Amino acid sequence: MIRNNKALWNSPMMKAIRQEPPDRMPVWLMRQAGRYMAEYRAVRESCSFLDLCRNPKLCAEVMRTAVEKLDVDAAIIFSDLLLILEPMGFGLEFRAGDGPIIHGAVREEKDLLRIRELEDLSALSYTFETIAETRRQVDPEKPIIGFTGAPFTLAGYAIEGGSSRNFLKTKTLMYSSPSVWKELMGRIARSAARYLNGQIAAGADIVQIFDSWAGHLGVEDYRRYVLPYTKEMIDQITPDVPVIHFGTGNPELLPLQAEAGGSVIGVDWRIPLNDAWEKIGKDRVLQGNLDPAVLLASPDVIRSEVRRIKKDVAGRPGFIFNLGHGIHKETPVENVIALVKEIHKNEI
Ligand code: CP3
Repeated sequence: MIRNNKALWNSPMMKAIRQEPPDRMPVWLMRQAGRYMAEYRAVRESCSFLDLCRNPKLCAEVMRTAVEKLDVDAAIIFSDLLLILEPMGFGLEFRAGDGPIIHGAVREEKDLLRIRELEDLSALSYTFETIAETRRQVDPEKPIIGFTGAPFTLAGYAIEGGSSRNFLKTKTLMYSSPSVWKELMGRIARSAARYLNGQIAAGADIVQIFDSWAGHLGVEDYRRYVLPYTKEMIDQITPDVPVIHFGTGNPELLPLQAEAGGSVIGVDWRIPLNDAWEKIGKDRVLQGNLDPAVLLASPDVIRSEVRRIKKDVAGRPGFIFNLGHGIHKETPVENVIALVKEIHKNEI
């Protein structure tokens, strides 16, 4: 589809993904639309977070506002990682200040009876409408990014019942109940792949897989308990659609994350870019890797960090600028605007 659209095909994002020299260094930011932005907070005054996620017109408007204000090169859809858990049989709740709560957490074999593999995607059709509506609202030269969670990160929420500092319940189930782990990870992997393919059919040009918490694992455990399922998921994604495989926390996992798949690998700030490239292989495109905490410093510090990363990239075409994880809600919006301006300056 994208081949028939010259502006999109030649956009900085798509050129970087094909490792051709882009006209400017492409940048987009995880959580580019969110609570750090006054316009977003205004929308949230009259609408709960979950109601917003299920309102395609409003989701598209929230993302268009962020893309225009920041002048970033791609629009990830406004949605949430956890929505897929609802039609799989979990209850989902967001309480102010508490983060997400997932009802019906999986702890033992009988809990699997309530958990469905997603075949019929109609309960998530609002996400597909968000993709189509975001496409209508955002500059036609900017790709739309669909997303979902990777099996480990989604299983973490499904087992813990919410956010976690150490993933103890998840690891206990992983080590002690291998058959429950296998069944849950398999169901999630296949469900998430179908969800992404639905997003692609609705018009997503690129998809990102968030494995936000995989870095809690060591290398051998990732290889044994996670890699096969993430690979199964990525192998099922519609061919020729670029996949960004993002993880955080443990740079030693990067070669295995690359082995699981993804034409672009998302890297956090814990490793210098060139070391990451060595580990991953020069055939892959990299996305990253500014520490989002830098955005709380002065614009001068931000600009010098951008120049440092540009020096590391050294004009190599296969690079997408992003943060190593999402924008913090304390971030001044002017700093984010200054960041994007510096990235888009043509000099290295
Ligand atoms: O701008 C964008 O990047 C698009 C929107 C987006 C959100 N969540 C909006 C959101 C995306 C891509 C996500 C992904 C997501 N959601 C992840 C993976 C990325 C990451 O950060 O690792 C995860 C782990 C989640 C789950 C989730 N959603 C949590 C743990 C929370 C609460 C955290 C908190 O800071 O309160 C959310 C809520 C959430 N998702 C908000 C937004 C804008 C804040 C909700 C609000 O308005 O109160």
